[in-house]
Amino acid sequence: MRILLIGSGGREHALAWALRKNPKVALMSAPGSSALASLGEVKPIAVDDVDGLTNLAKEMQPDLTVIGPELPLALGLTDSLKSLGLSVFGPSAEAAKIEGSKVFAKDFMVRHNLPTASYAVFYDPAEAKHYLKDASYPVVVKADGLASGKGVFVCGHHNQAMAALAEMASMEAASRIIVEEYLAGEEVSYFAITDGSSILPIPSAQDHKTIFDNDRGPNTGGMGAYSPAPLVTPKLEEIIMETIIRPTVEGLAAEGTPYCGLLYAGLMVSLSGPKILEFNARFGDPETQALMPRCKGDLAETLLAAANGVLHEANLAWDERPCVCVVMSSKGYPGPYETGQVITGLDKAEARDGVKVFQAGTTCEPRKIVQDGQEIWSETLQTNGGRVLGVTALGDDLESAVTKAYEAVGDISFEGAHYRRDIGAKALHF
Ligand code: AMP
Ligand code: GLY
Repeated sequence: MRILLIGSGGREHALAWALRKNPKVALMSAPGSSALASLGEVKPIAVDDVDGLTNLAKEMQPDLTVIGPELPLALGLTDSLKSLGLSVFGPSAEAAKIEGSKVFAKDFMVRHNLPTASYAVFYDPAEAKHYLKDASYPVVVKADGLASGKGVFVCGHHNQAMAALAEMASMEAASRIIVEEYLAGEEVSYFAITDGSSILPIPSAQDHKTIFDNDRGPNTGGMGAYSPAPLVTPKLEEIIMETIIRPTVEGLAAEGTPYCGLLYAGLMVSLSGPKILEFNARFGDPETQALMPRCKGDLAETLLAAANGVLHEANLAWDERPCVCVVMSSKGYPGPYETGQVITGLDKAEARDGVKVFQAGTTCEPRKIVQDGQEIWSETLQTNGGRVLGVTALGDDLESAVTKAYEAVGDISFEGAHYRRDIGAKALHF
C-alpha cells in the first residue's frame, strides 16, 4: 500500500511509525523531515503548496494520502486530491471549517444543540471593545481563523481583554472576534475516526498546553501528553460520544458537508458534564505521540477504510498500558527560539524498553566535528524547531510510564533544552 503523508512534525513521525507497522506500507512524505526520511522517501513540498502536492500525488498515485496539519485541509488539498479520484484521509475544506473558523464552529454547535460556552461574535473590534467594558470576567477572547494556537486569550480582567484586542489588531485570523464565557474544569482531547457515517473512537488523551509546570506561562502547541486520561471514564466516554461526537458527525453530514478524517474535540469537563472548547480537523500533537505507541491494530488499513467510506469494516486494538509523552523544546519557545544545537543521547534513550522518541523539530545535517584530534564532517542530529522531541514511554501503570519517560529524557541533551517536569502529575493524583 503506497501512502503519501503530508506534514513534518512529531505527529507525522508518530503516524508514519505506526503506519509502517504494516509491512505492506511504502511511505512517502511531504515536506517530511530527516526523521521521516528514515521511514520512506521525502519530497520537500510545503504543506501550503496545494498545486505542488497535487502534482506529486498525480505522479505517485498513492493508495492513500494522510493529511497531518490543518493548513492544507483548510486550503482544500483533500478536495483537490479527491478530484483526481484518490483516497484521502482528511476532511474537505468545507468540513474542515469546523477548525478553520471558530465562528462557523460555534454557530454549528448552536444549530445542533451541542454543549459549549455561550458567546458573542464581533465583526468590528470597536464593538468588541465596547462589549468588553461591562463583561463579567473572566472571559475568553478568540480570533476566528487559524492562528497556530496564538489566537486565544483567557482574560481575567478588562486590561487583559484590551491587551488581547491590541494583539489581535495585526492578526489576519482576527477579522472576526469571539468573546466567550469562561469554562472551568479539566481539559481532555477526544479523538474519533470517521468516514462521515461510521465512527471509531480512539482512547482519550490529555495535553499540557502551557510552557511551565503547574499550567503556568504562555500557551504552546503542547508540552506533553498522556493516554488514556483517567478522567474519561467509560460513562463519560459514552456521554461524549452521544452528546458531542455522534451529533457532530451527523450534523455535518446533514448539512451536506460529510466529514471524513480525524475529528478532534477539545473538551472542558466540569461537574455539569463535558463542553466543547474547540474542534480540530486533524490528529492532535503531542497527543498522537502518546497514542501511537498504544496502537496495536492496523492503522494503515483503518485510515484507508475511512477514506473509502467503509470504516465499519475496520477496527483498531489498543495496548492497555498507559503512554506518556514529554516534549523537549528549544530555548525561548514559544517565543523566538534558537536552532542548530547538537542533540545527543537519542540511541541511549530508545534502547530503554517501551521508549520511543518522536522527532518534531530536528534535522540531520553534516557538521564539522573533531574526532581523534582531526576535523571531519559528520551527519549530526540538530535542533530545527520550537518543539524538538517527543519522548514517549509505555508503562505498566501511569506512574511507571512517567518515570520511564523522564529517565529517557535524562539520556538526551542539547543546549538550552527545556521540558516540563510535571507531565502526567495531574492524572497520578486523580
Ligand atoms: P482553543 O484553541 O479554542 O481550544 O483554546 C485554546 C485553549 O484556551 C484551550 O485549550 C483552553 O485551555 C483555553 N480556552 C479556550 N476556550 C476556553 C473557555 N471557554 N473557557 C476556558 N478556557 C478556554
Ligand atoms: N495539542 C493541541 C493540538 O494539537 O491542537
